[in-house]
Amino acid sequence: MELCSCGSGLPYENCHKNAEELIKKYKAQRQQTPTLKMIKNPVQIEGIREAGRINSLVLDAVSKMIREGITTEDINRVVDSETRKLGGIPAPLNYEGFPKSVCVSINSQVCHGIPDNHTYLKKGDIVNVDCTTIVNGYFGDASRMFTIGEITPQADRLIKVTRESIALAISKIGPGAHLGDIGFYINRLAVKNGFSVVREVGGHGVGLAMHEDPFVAHVGDLGRGMVLLPGMVFTIEPMINAGKRGVFVDAANGWTIYTADGSLSAQEESTVLITETGVEILSK
Ligand code: MF3
Ligand code: CO
Ligand code: CO
Repeated sequence: MELCSCGSGLPYENCHKNAEELIKKYKAQRQQTPTLKMIKNPVQIEGIREAGRINSLVLDAVSKMIREGITTEDINRVVDSETRKLGGIPAPLNYEGFPKSVCVSINSQVCHGIPDNHTYLKKGDIVNVDCTTIVNGYFGDASRMFTIGEITPQADRLIKVTRESIALAISKIGPGAHLGDIGFYINRLAVKNGFSVVREVGGHGVGLAMHEDPFVAHVGDLGRGMVLLPGMVFTIEPMINAGKRGVFVDAANGWTIYTADGSLSAQEESTVLITETGVEILSK
């Protein structure tokens, strides 16, 4: 019996054989294909599923404590302690110099907001909390929007459209779909609602590291880009601005991204697995 060269310890037939044949088939059709490394083996998928589950429990803990009057550092403290209590490690901490265990991005902050002890949540704020958790060496990555007190009708619509856009993209993909489909459906819905999609940051392969190939754009063309194959694990994490799509990076901390026009921005993130028959959300 031939063992798979990926190191899973599984017979090749039960591991990457199918993927290798599919890659050959799509290459013959001149399609862009994933590399074999982008196809996770069953052992890795189980590990990433568990990391995604723990990561969601951490976000659940945030949902229970987030309220007006706390600081973003309070959120950081809960994420850090809850993650470790559940047997995980918060991946953002010290990642390329990132100083905290979670990203908390408020209002016109698009992403990569850094928690601190002087930013208080106030009525009307819309807040993205983005957690990445390492469990037994595997990574899960997801984010959710939270609202503080009553928010404006525009903010409410922005959050709803952002959630709808990711759900729509997930409902449209599966094996044989294309990476461009994701961005196509997300962008079309955002634009239809008078909003715009950030291009400078995107989703990414995930699982054995926080950021892997491929880059997952949130604008795209239907039927274009890399074909999606079973075993691929990546995030979809649209950042949608109420105003124009332009952004800038905070010069003082080198991390936090803001909308250039000061408009609100919302984001939702899921980790997904392409299966033999469709797609599974691993960050539930
Ligand atoms: N969780 C973010 C993502 O969705 C990445 C965080 S970068 C860090 O890709 F530096 F803040 F960790
Ligand atoms: Co994330
Ligand atoms: Co991500």
